[in-house]
Amino acid sequence: MARIAVVGSINMDLVTRTRRRPRAGETVLGTTFATVPGGKGANQAIAARRAGAAVDFVGAIGTDVFGAELRKVLADNEVGTAGLRTVEGSSGTATIVVDETGENTIIVVGGANAALSDLTDGDRALIADADIMLCQLEIPVDTVLGAARCARDHGTLVLLNPSPARSLPPELWEAVDIAVVNEGEAAQLDAELRTVTHVLTTRGGAGASYRGPEGELAHPGVRVEVVDTTGAGDTFTGALAAHWHEGPATALAWACTAGALATTVVGASASIPTAAAIERALAE
Ligand code: RIB
Repeated sequence: MARIAVVGSINMDLVTRTRRRPRAGETVLGTTFATVPGGKGANQAIAARRAGAAVDFVGAIGTDVFGAELRKVLADNEVGTAGLRTVEGSSGTATIVVDETGENTIIVVGGANAALSDLTDGDRALIADADIMLCQLEIPVDTVLGAARCARDHGTLVLLNPSPARSLPPELWEAVDIAVVNEGEAAQLDAELRTVTHVLTTRGGAGASYRGPEGELAHPGVRVEVVDTTGAGDTFTGALAAHWHEGPATALAWACTAGALATTVVGASASIPTAAAIERALAE
């Protein structure tokens, strides 16, 4: 079983569904509203755990009403919370609008995630003990860099999902072993990604591809009925990390299948499939 340390964000997602998203200055009527735990870090942690890995989460929640619920969702999913701290103020939130095609727009307010500025000795021990350290960009970049350096020092592979895309110091890219990007990020980060050993590019309904020492691999899209794409990329990334030790081709198949299944259910963490569901779909 792979051991993964996720150093990343955890948000409460405020999800409104509507037939179509409003234009600037326009009001439209929505159909449903729900709060669903999310955040790229937490989603990827839960996805890796459900896909079969042992997972520890390093992150921050606030003292608001969302904090306790966010801690609980990690614990309920058997994700280790020794690295989860509570800081004064609001938890991270994501205001998400999903239209009838399943596409979304998201506004993230960092809240407590922005306070994740120092790694403790305990956090460093979790990273050192892991096979893979998994990061995204909803926490301070200096923290991502510190976690990546700690991982490198201890022989832990660094998997970066550079989302939401932003400018990163070259020394961070030098520490990355595996990158997971969508097509937009792949185009935007073309020069930076050339220094990364393993690059996986997700292509929405068209599947995903890999390039690295194992050559070039492509996995086709998995046919599903899409209701909400929120968290599909996170599910892809978590499942990939959980199965990376089986080689890129197997990991890619698990990741594509898990990501596709995540689009069939509304909500980020709520939509992440179990290992049994992924195995069933892989066998079909
Ligand atoms: O990738 C989806 C996630 O992005 C959501 O859960 C939301 O919290 C934002 O972080």
